[in-house]
This record gives sequence, structure tokens and C-alpha cells, in this order.
Amino acid sequence: MENALDPIEEITLMGPGPSCVDSSVLAALSKHTIGHLDPKFIGIMDAIKEQMKSLFHTDNQLTIPVSGTGSAGMETCFVNLVEKGDPVLILINGVFGMRMQDVATRLGAKVDTLNFEWGTPVVTEQVKQKLAEKSYIIVAVVHAETSTGVKNPVAEIGELLKGTDTLFLVDAVTSFGGMEIRLDDWGVDAIYSGTQKCLSCPPGLAPISFSDRAVAKVKARKTKVPNWYLDLTMIINYWEGTTRAYHHTAPINMLYGLYQALFLILEEGEDAVYRRHMENHRALVAGLDKLGISMLVDESCRLPMLNSVYIPDGADDAAVRSALLKEHKIEIGAGLGPLAGKIWRIGLMGHTARPENVEKLILALKAVL
Ligand SMILES: Cc1ncc(COP(=O)(O)O)c(C=O)c1O
Repeated sequence: MENALDPIEEITLMGPGPSCVDSSVLAALSKHTIGHLDPKFIGIMDAIKEQMKSLFHTDNQLTIPVSGTGSAGMETCFVNLVEKGDPVLILINGVFGMRMQDVATRLGAKVDTLNFEWGTPVVTEQVKQKLAEKSYIIVAVVHAETSTGVKNPVAEIGELLKGTDTLFLVDAVTSFGGMEIRLDDWGVDAIYSGTQKCLSCPPGLAPISFSDRAVAKVKARKTKVPNWYLDLTMIINYWEGTTRAYHHTAPINMLYGLYQALFLILEEGEDAVYRRHMENHRALVAGLDKLGISMLVDESCRLPMLNSVYIPDGADDAAVRSALLKEHKIEIGAGLGPLAGKIWRIGLMGHTARPENVEKLILALKAVL
């Protein structure tokens, strides 16, 4: 009988995610499955929480991976923190800010947005003006906008909200594990990420963290969390305390994978990992420059892990990406929304961010173009 899994070739994943996965993470995924209430497994869960707290730079007790991809992390934050009629401000400069707007609107929040041109960052001064006009329950922003390659000024926005009752919600799907995130210093109250970007684990889990203020808001809700699966008031009884209560069957092997992925980052050293991302990003930009390929985003707010580059004149967007995949086993990403057909998105996320991958892509692009 034919098996659809055979063969799966190794592809160098240089798109907007998933990224390359280290063989030790793949090995962790294939370890024996044990029970989700096995004391050994509870020990692994506790270790993951500590790893995540360390990488998020937080003391937040509620720091856990949600079962689901980055969007489940986004939904978890909004569904637990928002009640019908709550005023919410969303700062938008790409696809994932728009997704936040959609999620919050579906929950009946009164959503205001501040929109910024795609490819440029959120302007803190404009946020300040907006906050002077009106107060919000939540202000939400994407740290690393994967659709454009822009880094938003999360620490500065957090500074504006310090001393207010407004909760600060941040999307760290693409930034977590690839650049510094300091939840407690930056005043972030709720954050979510995904495993398939700079953590270099396959997709399937969404690390989240809630501050004590955010937990208090969830506990003070007048209405039940409208989504059973993502209701943190129930999920914490599995992740916290001495008697762990079943909520849903944890994705056990995925959690082994996440543990190992976080282990690798902490073993290499956080700063060394961020430096590696930056150095490979610089090498990529220099290599592309020699090919006459320029960057969409200004150097001051460029992400190291997601490089948006203009498609050179005369190059066929889809044909080039297809040749890279077929002939060179390299995946890069297409542009989204208004940037479709104008840019490629080249990821240097996690394990992908290595000099040999940068070199391989530059040589392949040279050959294809
Ligand atoms: C910034 C950002 N937020 C949210 C998501 C959604 O994550 P997922 O596709 O894992 O559900 C993505 C995915 O690319 C992302 O880049």
C-alpha cells in the first residue's frame, strides 16, 4: 500500500514560518507518549513554564503553552480578556493586526483602530494622542508584523500605558525566541506566540503569559468566557496547583518538542541567539544588495527574522519561488494583501538563521534570477 508520507524531502524553510527544526527537537517529538497526568509529564509541564518565564523575562504565574497554533494564542487572549462592549484599541500595520481586529470585533468589543502604512511602524506619538482622547480596556499591537517585516515599538507603547488601568496585549508570534522580549519591564499584560517561528518547533502550540492584572480581569468577568476550549479559568486547573485536573488531553509529544526547542535556546544563551539572528540578517541584506535586491522596510525598524524584499524588475514572483523550491529545496514566502506580487518574505527564524542557509539562498537566487 502506498504511504503518503514517503518520501518527505528536507526543505530549507526560509519563509514566514514554519522554520527549520533541529534534529533533537524531531527526536523529542518521537519519544514514547506517556499519560497527560503521569507525574513525569507534570514535571515536564512545570519545566516548560519555567523555560517560558525565563525567555519572556516575567514572573507571571500564568505562563503556559495553549494547545493550538498562534491564532489560538491570539484568540485565548481576546476571548478571556474582552467582554461585550469593552473599548479596545488595536494598532494595525499589517495582516496580523487586522486579524486581531476581526477577533475582537467578533467578541462584541467596541474596537477602535489606528492604522499605519504597511511597511512602516506604529508611531508612538499617535498612540499617545489617541489615549489622551479616550481610555481603553485593552491596547493591542503586533511586535513583529510577519506580513511586512516591521518591528513595532512595544516597549515605548508599554511605557505610555504604565500607571493606567489599560491592559497591554502583544502578539509575539514571530518575535519570541528571535529578539528580546521583557514582559515585566515593558508592562505587557498578555502575550501570545507560536512554536513554528523562532522557537523552531513544528506548529501546534501557542505560548502565552498573563500578568496578575490580566488574571484579575479574567476573574472579575461578569460573563463566562464564551469559548470553552480556551477558557483559562478552567485550563489553569490543569497547569497549576498540586491537584491537576483534566481539561483536555494535552498534546503530549508536541510539548516534548517545545521543551527541547526552549532547551536549545536557553543552552545556546538568549543573547547569543538574538545576535545570531541579527548577524545572519545583516549577511542576507548584504548578499541581496549585491544581487540588486532591496529591502521594503527602513533599517531602523527592520526585523532580523523576517526580511521583506522587493521582487526585482522582470522577475516572475511565483516562477522564482517555485524554482527555488523545486531546484534548490528552499522555501521563501510571497507577499500578502497590498504587498502581494511586490515583495518576497525571507525568513531567518530560529534554527534557519545560519550562515550556510544565507549563502545557499543567495547562490540559489543568483542562479534562478
Ligand atoms: C504575527 C503573527 N500573528 C499571528 C499568526 C497566526 O499564527 P498561526 O498561523 O500559527 O495560527 C502569525 C502566523 O504567521 C503571525 O505571523
